[in-house]
Amino acid sequence: MHQSDTGVPRLAAALAIADILKIGCNLHEALHQRTQQITDSRDKALVHELTYGVLRLLPKLQRYAANLISYKLKPKDLDVECLLLIGIYQLDSLRVPDHAAVNQTVAAARQLGKPWASGFINAILRNFQRRQTQLHTLESQAAVTHCFPEWLAKRIYNDWPEMAPQIMQASDCHPPMWLRVNLGRISRADYIKQLVAVGLTARPYPNIPAALILDQTISMDTLPGFNEGLVSIQDGAAQLAALLLEAKPKANILDACAAPGGKTGHLLECYPESSVTAVEKNTERLKLLRQNLARLNLKARTILADITSNTIKQDRDEISNWTDRQYDYILLDAPCSATGVIRRHPDIKWLRRSTDIAHLVATQNHLLDCLYAQLRPGGCMLYITCSILAQENHEVVLKFLQRTPDAKEWPLDVTWGHACSVGRQILPGEQKMDGFYFARLVKTLVSRDSII
Ligand SMILES: C[S@@+](CC[C@H](N)C(=O)[O-])C[C@H]1O[C@@H](n2cnc3c(N)ncnc32)[C@H](O)[C@@H]1O
Repeated sequence: MHQSDTGVPRLAAALAIADILKIGCNLHEALHQRTQQITDSRDKALVHELTYGVLRLLPKLQRYAANLISYKLKPKDLDVECLLLIGIYQLDSLRVPDHAAVNQTVAAARQLGKPWASGFINAILRNFQRRQTQLHTLESQAAVTHCFPEWLAKRIYNDWPEMAPQIMQASDCHPPMWLRVNLGRISRADYIKQLVAVGLTARPYPNIPAALILDQTISMDTLPGFNEGLVSIQDGAAQLAALLLEAKPKANILDACAAPGGKTGHLLECYPESSVTAVEKNTERLKLLRQNLARLNLKARTILADITSNTIKQDRDEISNWTDRQYDYILLDAPCSATGVIRRHPDIKWLRRSTDIAHLVATQNHLLDCLYAQLRPGGCMLYITCSILAQENHEVVLKFLQRTPDAKEWPLDVTWGHACSVGRQILPGEQKMDGFYFARLVKTLVSRDSII
């Protein structure tokens, strides 16, 4: 018997959502913990589908539930509430037959150890079925077009007054799966043939040489040649970073804030003659970076260090100091609110707090100053974030330029995205991409001709 017949996947999804909302666990960790006992890949996929879906549409589902329950559930019954939201989500947004959605959700409720929960969920879901049309009408009258926390919606409206509804709508949709073909090993056309041979299809993206968009969403180990390093999973906007550096041959490149190494791998694929140093302060994440490079059969100097405190951490593999040289190019993929990638990580909406932004900005300022000291005169630094908030993007870069007289913007000669007072922004969903901000800076010598 499928575990789904016993309600196990629905229970796992409800508990994962409760972990995120109650204890601030991130989505990846919550899913990992709650699916350990689930062996069937279809059941696992169902847990993912339900968890992502409910997190994307949370306020709407909560409004439906509030209309159906006449009292507020106690905080200790968050598990029951999450299961109820899963039930409503299935009835409202999935193609699961209604009877299966109700019966399996009720079966899951029986396993909560709360004798009242199954009857409660059964009654509310059946009431939802009866009142679905009326609830849709109420929802459309509420004129709420997005499923974002209020503080974040306000900030997005403030920074992108005309684009805000579109940004939030795109952030609540499933993203496509982008691939980056390792062009040093196989051409894009030949990789497409490998996909077709296993029943998959993909379209080449015009202006990014290694990029493909898959027509399906699949797990990465089923991609042909993934374990052998023929291909990586990376959004199109993230693939722009290495290209925008426009590094000359045999350059010294620093990939600051590098883990899990998506961009380190791409830098090495684009500039194979260059020497790349990747710095990361988190031990576990640096391990992932090293695994990623090993899979791609690429070599970088990888260093465990906190850039802002310049402490070299104890690390079994490397004892070198990243400040031992000046770099021709620095990629700073700064820690940020990740508000541009909510479509991939819907938990961000519920984990991020408005007070986080000021802390992130302080770190971004500090990182820029520390790294700029290691940029050689004439060198180029690319500042990027996967944020859509002005405060973390062009406002950070403008202040940096104001306090750093020999730094200048090297404008990006591109047509995509939106020009900001400095740098450019791609908004989520535009060109099918994640939301990213890019600003290219140079440490001036005397004239622009001296740029390496
Ligand atoms: C946006 S992620 C980088 C993603 C990466 N560039 C990629 O493409 O896979 C930011 C990374 O910066 C690291 N980080 C944050 N502050 C740092 C610091 N002071 N020194 C070094 N690494 C830092 C975080 O641990 C995190 O792994």
